Order: sequence, then C-alpha cells, then structure tokens
Amino acid sequence: MPCAPLIDPFARPITYLRVSVTDRCDFRCVYCMAEEMTFLPKADLLSHEELTRMCGAFVDLGVKKLRITGGEPLVRRDIMTFFEAMGRRLGAHPGGGLDELTLTTNGSQLRRFAKQLADCGVKRVNVSLDTLDDAKFAAITRRGRLAQVLDGIDAAQEAGLRVKINVVALKGANDDEIIPLAEWCGSRGMDLTFIEVMPMGDLGNEDRLDQFLPVSEVRETLAARWRLTDIPLRTGGPARYVRVEETGQRIGFITPLTHNFCEGCNRVRVTCTGTLYMCLGQNDQADLRAPLREHPTDDAPLIAEIRRAIARKPKGHDFDYSRREDFGAVARHMSVTGG
Ligand code: 5AD
Ligand code: SF4
Repeated sequence: MPCAPLIDPFARPITYLRVSVTDRCDFRCVYCMAEEMTFLPKADLLSHEELTRMCGAFVDLGVKKLRITGGEPLVRRDIMTFFEAMGRRLGAHPGGGLDELTLTTNGSQLRRFAKQLADCGVKRVNVSLDTLDDAKFAAITRRGRLAQVLDGIDAAQEAGLRVKINVVALKGANDDEIIPLAEWCGSRGMDLTFIEVMPMGDLGNEDRLDQFLPVSEVRETLAARWRLTDIPLRTGGPARYVRVEETGQRIGFITPLTHNFCEGCNRVRVTCTGTLYMCLGQNDQADLRAPLREHPTDDAPLIAEIRRAIARKPKGHDFDYSRREDFGAVARHMSVTGG
C-alpha cells in the first residue's frame, strides 16, 4: 500500500535522500579527512541488505531522488549489488519509484564502474575535482593520482553518463585555476559547481578559515572574463547558477556559509551507520539502524522512526563563523555525512 509522503513541519516535502554508504575513501582530502583516519568497524555499517531496505522505505515514503555518497562510495565492496537493487526502484512502481539515482564520487574508480552504473540506470555523476595540476592534486587529496581521475571521467562520458564537476574553492590552492577549470569543463560539456569550504569536522585544529575563499570571489574572477547571467533559482538545492553568455555553459555556486539556502530544503541524509540527519548543519539525528536490526522482516518500526524524525526537521542550519564558540554544533567530518 502506498504510504503518505514525508512532509516536514515547514511544509517541505522530503523527496531527496543522500546516503553515505561508507566512511572510507582512497583519498585523504585536506578539507575532508585527517591524514591518519580510523575508520568504522564493518559491523557498525549498514549491510547491503539494510541499506537497500532503508532506501526502499524512503522510496515508499515518496523520495524521488537518491544520491549515493561516502567517503568514496565506489570503494565499498560489492557496491554494484546495491546500485542494481536501487536501480530496480527507478521509474513507476506501485509503491512509488525513483526519478533519479545518482552518486558523488572522487572519480578514482570510474574506469572500473562507469558502464555498470549506467546499466543500473544512473544517468549523472558528480565528480569532485579541485585542480587540473598533478602536484596540487596530490597535495589536496594527499594520495590521489590526477591521471586516474581524468581517466575515470573519460570512462564516465564514454558510458554516456552526464558528468558534473564539483570544485571546492580553496584560497592559495586553486584560486588561480578558476578560468582553466571552467574552460576545461565547458570544452567537455560538463557542468561545474564551485563549493565554499565548510566548517566540518574537528574544528579545534582543523578549522578551515585560512583556506576559505568565498565563491563570490570565484564569481568575480569568472565575471572579469565572461558575461554571466543569473539563472532563476530552482527550489530545493543549495546551488545558484549562472549562464556564461559567450558559451552557454552553466556554472553553479554553493555558499553554505554566506547564504542561507534552507527555505526550500527537500533533503535529508543518512550516514553509513544508519544515522539520519535532518539537517546538515544541526546535530539532531535519528538512529535507523536499531529498527532495521531489531525488526529484520518488518519495515513498520523503521518507517515510524523516519516519520518521527522528519516531524522535527529544523527550519535551517547553524553554520556561522562569527559564533565559533558554539561550534560543538557540527563537529563531524564531511566523510560522515557525505556533503
Ligand atoms: N567543505 C566543502 N566541501 C567539502 N567536501 C568534502 N569536505 C568538504 C568541506 N569541508 C566536498 C567534496 C565533494 C563533496 C562530497 O563534498 O569535495 O565535492
Ligand atoms: Fe575522499 Fe571525497 Fe573526502 Fe576527498 S573529499 S577524502 S575524495 S570523501
């Protein structure tokens, strides 16, 4: 029987779920992870079966778009089994179907998986790539190889996947590459979004103020080169978009710190351990792993827990560098919540 859809207290329908399937990654990007990471024991993670059941429950509850994140989702063992299962929920189903199944990846494993992803019904991938310079890439990711990611992007395009490049704007690291990155994406027909570095993780010694580059500056750099026109806001997502008049290219900006994008929020996140976060910038959470494990054949307790959580989804986030004393607030790494 179709369930009543999820609507939060501010009348926002929850139609977008982001799920982190692993906290592990083959890279150690400086803004995301510590050099030495201790990853979660396997028993803490949702199994493939639990992930599939949980995501299936959200689809039953009206979620239309599912984005798989990490860590790096493609380093999880047998991840294609999960993509295949969710791919089967694409399209019209009696209990509700997904409109879109997608992922955010660092691109390192795309040569291996792009074709299989496309076969599962994935149409688009977001690839995180902050620089086109080998040495800088090695410095930012600590252990990534640029050539491997570029080859992965080739593979994605060969498989017919639409690629969007996500660039974290970093002062002193890639602020001289704004135009080259835009030209490169434009020449390959890839969308591009610049993201402000967010104050995630252990802020005691990892605060990222020294790397902070407002995307307004990125925009100014682009505007000095091209004519930019604002594209009207689509509700729901955090990105604002401009069109480059000379080329027709679309470029997005995500400014979690300097702009509030909460009004139209349609999304929630689940970590790889089954913790549901109703807001990226708030600590309130719900444990979905307990009902999954305690009731292995009955989804009703899981669905009840999801509904209780959505009923307390907050109105907005709480990122604010001016109130840093309070910053116990979001002391978790991006690799936990998956961006
Ligand atoms: N600030 C902004 N973006 C981040 N990402 C990871 N950590 C941070 C951070 N602290 C980005 C990755 C990727 C996406 C999943 O999140 O580069 O594009
Ligand atoms: Fe891995 Fe992405 Fe985090 Fe980099 S930003 S360490 S690629 S999860």
